[in-house]
Amino acid sequence: MDMDKTTRLLYLQAMGVETWKLKPQLATKNVVEKNLLTDDKPSKILTIEENWKELAQDIRVCQKCELYKTRKKTVFGSGNFNADWLFIGEASGENEDLQGLPFVGNAGLLLTEMMRALGLKRENVFITNLLKCRPPDNQDPKVNEITACYDYLKRQQALINPKIIIAVGKVAAQKLLKSTAPIKELRGVVHKIDNIPLVVIYHPAYLLRFLGKKRIAWQDLQLALKTYQLLQEE
Ligand code: URA
Repeated sequence: MDMDKTTRLLYLQAMGVETWKLKPQLATKNVVEKNLLTDDKPSKILTIEENWKELAQDIRVCQKCELYKTRKKTVFGSGNFNADWLFIGEASGENEDLQGLPFVGNAGLLLTEMMRALGLKRENVFITNLLKCRPPDNQDPKVNEITACYDYLKRQQALINPKIIIAVGKVAAQKLLKSTAPIKELRGVVHKIDNIPLVVIYHPAYLLRFLGKKRIAWQDLQLALKTYQLLQEE
């Protein structure tokens, strides 16, 4: 049975299949088809740059969950829009909320060091969070907050089209991998999401509290590096 594109997308959506995903091959051609489902009009084509601008604006004014009431600044993410490496953390803390930048507190300093150990600089990777706003009092992100914000992350991922994703900490790992397993079971293996390898590392805030995890943290970084290097050889 032949179905037109809109009907097929509606079927997929009804089945719970996420249909927002931008096609990487389109992204590399510098055009991305947007709002396939929601546009009444023929799909509008935006350039990559226009997509980034629109996404930044959507996040800046977002009121999809209650966190907009208490945030000082949204935290879009920072780094290279064409990065091979995409680091995804949990949510901003006090410093990030004030500065509008991800991982700028003590955990951020350690994350920067961990990147340095991989031969990476912050400006060469892209760093963002599951949540673009700070949960008050550094509470754990709520399910409805993560759900509301997830589309932004996936749009970022589709635009960057990274070679490798690093899930920083348990909350990011569980959401990205749609798993409830503890981090000790998620780390140490190479997962794949949207056909992109994903490696889980301990959150630097956790490592600052549990220095004994240093050796394991180093192993995770080595796994990430080896995975990336193997991709380079393909
Ligand atoms: N912790 C995170 O997960 N993200 C930040 O940006 C800062 C701290």
